[in-house]
Amino acid sequence: MAPTTVNGTSNGTDRSHEVLHRTPSPAGGPAAPSRPADLEAARASLRLALPEPGSKFSQDDEFCVVAEPDGTWREYRFHDYDRIFGVPGLYEKIFYDVLGCDSPRFMVGLLSEALAAAGEAASALRVLDLGAGNGIMAEELAAVGVDYAVGVDILTEARDAALRDRPGLYADYRVADLTKLPAAEREALAGHRLNALTVVAALGFGDIPPAAFRTAYDHVDQDGWVVLTIKDAFLEATDTSGFGGMIGESIRSGALEVVRRERFQHRLATDSSPLLYEGIVARKRGPLAG
Ligand SMILES: C[S@@+](CC[C@H](N)C(=O)[O-])C[C@H]1O[C@@H](n2cnc3c(N)ncnc32)[C@H](O)[C@@H]1O
Repeated sequence: MAPTTVNGTSNGTDRSHEVLHRTPSPAGGPAAPSRPADLEAARASLRLALPEPGSKFSQDDEFCVVAEPDGTWREYRFHDYDRIFGVPGLYEKIFYDVLGCDSPRFMVGLLSEALAAAGEAASALRVLDLGAGNGIMAEELAAVGVDYAVGVDILTEARDAALRDRPGLYADYRVADLTKLPAAEREALAGHRLNALTVVAALGFGDIPPAAFRTAYDHVDQDGWVVLTIKDAFLEATDTSGFGGMIGESIRSGALEVVRRERFQHRLATDSSPLLYEGIVARKRGPLAG
């Protein structure tokens, strides 16, 4: 059976000045996430195959092959997000349908519980969603009543996919490299008066480096909320990625006050072994260590 809805290219439109606006919520309640029905159809129609079960790859090198409309198979490395986001539904198919990822929903659940315990309303949050990808975090945040989220990602293709697949969920979506943020971008982020940071499935492994995380953290108000997932090994004293010193030490010093911390299965690897991450919900009580 040939797949019917596979589109391997992004449209290349320059949307660098485009700003998304959230759909107003009915009667002050959480805005209903809007997602084109054809995203679900595209997701369902895709066919992909994983490497043979006995093979093992590092998380940096994992890949799958995807059936093209002409019947050929094309390889996608999991870190080729630009190509993956170009195919509607492919990100969801690989990571959610096949590899069982549920990290955004899980982490937003922890945040929601932490907010309730602190007596704070989700609607008061102004979230910087770092490594926002195609907007799955914004969808989950909206579902618990967060109605102001700003996406930041290094890829234009990520923003294009969020606009295409989950329109209206981000108040703004900036394509930026936070390791060398121009003054105009700093001002734009400061203008959003952010009091929460979410970074889910995006730290380390060639994705977001410690310096970018630090810049995002510095844009969040004192006592703001910080929600992150990270491979547990990155937090250990022996870690060489830079996260252990920065986040691990900040937790130990209390600059990052942990409210919830759970070890959880982020997703399966291609050999079906579980990838375990730390999920942390914390308050920013001071600057990061280092
Ligand atoms: C696995 S996706 C996660 C997307 C989203 N957080 C989610 O949970 O659905 C990782 C995202 O991080 C982005 N990313 C990688 N390096 C980055 C960087 N240096 N700065 C900002 N975003 C980055 C990628 O482009 C990609 O969209």
